[in-house]
Amino acid sequence: MQDAAPKTIFLKDYTPFGWIIDDVHLTFRLHPSATRVISRIRFRPNPDATDRSFFLHGEALKPISAKVDGHEVALRQVDGGIEADVPDAPFNWEAEVEINPEANTALEGLYMSGGMYCTQCEAEGFRKITWYPDRPDVMAQFTVRIESDADHTPVMLSNGNGLYYHQDGTQTPAPNVSIYQDPWPKPAYLFALVAGDLVAHEDTFTTMSGRDVDLAIYVRRGDEHKCAFGMEALKKSMKWDEEVYGREYDLDEFNIVAVDDFNMGAMENKGLNIFNSSCVLASPETSTDGNFERIEAIIAHEYFHNWTGNRITCRDWFQLCLKEGLTVYRDAQFTADMRSEPVKRIDDVLALRARQFPEDQGPLSHPVRPESFQEINNFYTATIYEKGAEVIGMLKTLVGDAAYAKALDLYFDRHDGQACTIEDWIQVFEDSTDRDLGQFKLWYSQSGTPKVTVREDYQDDTFTLHLSQSSAPTPGQSEKLPQVIPVAVGLLNDNGVEVMPTKVLELTAAEQSFSFEGHATRPVPSILRGFSAPVTLEQDIDTARRSFLLSHDTDPFNRWEAGRMLARDSLLASIRKDTAPDADYLDGLKSVLRDDTLDPAYRALMLAQP
Ligand code: SER
Ligand code: ZN
Repeated sequence: MQDAAPKTIFLKDYTPFGWIIDDVHLTFRLHPSATRVISRIRFRPNPDATDRSFFLHGEALKPISAKVDGHEVALRQVDGGIEADVPDAPFNWEAEVEINPEANTALEGLYMSGGMYCTQCEAEGFRKITWYPDRPDVMAQFTVRIESDADHTPVMLSNGNGLYYHQDGTQTPAPNVSIYQDPWPKPAYLFALVAGDLVAHEDTFTTMSGRDVDLAIYVRRGDEHKCAFGMEALKKSMKWDEEVYGREYDLDEFNIVAVDDFNMGAMENKGLNIFNSSCVLASPETSTDGNFERIEAIIAHEYFHNWTGNRITCRDWFQLCLKEGLTVYRDAQFTADMRSEPVKRIDDVLALRARQFPEDQGPLSHPVRPESFQEINNFYTATIYEKGAEVIGMLKTLVGDAAYAKALDLYFDRHDGQACTIEDWIQVFEDSTDRDLGQFKLWYSQSGTPKVTVREDYQDDTFTLHLSQSSAPTPGQSEKLPQVIPVAVGLLNDNGVEVMPTKVLELTAAEQSFSFEGHATRPVPSILRGFSAPVTLEQDIDTARRSFLLSHDTDPFNRWEAGRMLARDSLLASIRKDTAPDADYLDGLKSVLRDDTLDPAYRALMLAQP
């Protein structure tokens, strides 16, 4: 089959698939260059669909046979797959195809990596394994039987619970067969299969309701000593998701496999996460502190997808941020809890400014939820992941922690087992808070980084902040509407005492003024505390004010930002004019370093030069 010419797909054109799948049985007869895949699928008409034409995706598949209710059926090869005539009633589909894992260098579908079989199906890799409606809104229960070609594949894994494969290495009914059953309906992009000569680093976790889960990290022989850290990170993630989001793990086993050849960092396949080796293996001899933190965060991210991505998935790939923005947000909360909250926030903002802001200002600028694409693989971007997470953070800032928790409970309750949209997500917040989030939705549809400009005014005991917002045109969006921008602000008096703790101003118009009365002396504002919105901030702020904020601000983010700007100016001055470091900067730094209430990681970061 030849590659189809690039075709633009539009969000507005979405229609449901004409059929519902109750269950899928797959048999793999593994062979490096000629693997046979036998599928048995039960289809029934989808009452919510009007179009019942029968199209299944398929790419680079060698047809062996196809049957409907036991009778051979003629297949029509069409762009990207096959069509067949089927009854307008429930029927059984049975097909056999041959694929060549060894020749699969795109690393999508089933491929070989250093002698082991491995899969990557997100976003559209499953269609390279067998004919299937390879779209995330088709969710089904899978049973997978794996038959190995030789005895160099002692470990054979798939999603769900292993029925005939035991962790002590014994197998029934036959040594070269393994069977996995996944009771949770899932889309095909979460399918996974791994087979090879692997060793397991094992452990167990007891969930909040007292169920024991077998945990394993599978690696190539010789890498066994690099798994301990990842295993601890996994157990911490499982516990954190129970404690903070009330989410319990839902299978008898959870497996991670380290693979050397992998397109992405890692992948959240149900019960069988596959990782690029560099994102899971660590040893004190060869890994830096940064490596450990990154591994912990990626393990958490993939694990958290079990609820935000797998149990509740995306209706179509336009909704990618539904699972990715939320899961990035959750893994950031986890890292903040495990390590230093201010340092995590600062690291994330630095990354956002370095990667997402340029994306938003360039020719590839796109909304957090795009409205069209040609190739979904090009949309795994900083905008969808990182800005998507910022949008969740803003939502939480606007509704408050308690309302966020309530909305998330409702989300899990209402949408478990469904393939959802951003509209569903927003609706949950509207229903649980009685707030109209119509304008907030612009964060999902409008691309570009808004600019917030601040002007200050002080008269008769009243301090006023005049805020305005604007957004430059981006590709396809020449006119921008004002967005809801949560601007967290605190006020300090001239002795450095906080006279107004953090308050969230909701900037909703192009220009808006916020007044604060009863200030006998002119206060000093600390604006956009905690980087409360992914915007650029324009304010008139001189060196004296920066030194003041560095010494006195109670907000660790703005304190760091003030120090960073001062350090930059001071460094430039010492290079250009050979001056000594600015005395105010050094004083400010001293007050941070001597403040024992601040955590050591944060104080160390403050010392770093930009
Ligand atoms: N779904 C994968 C992840 O974000 C792709 O990288 O973890
Ligand atoms: Zn993810």
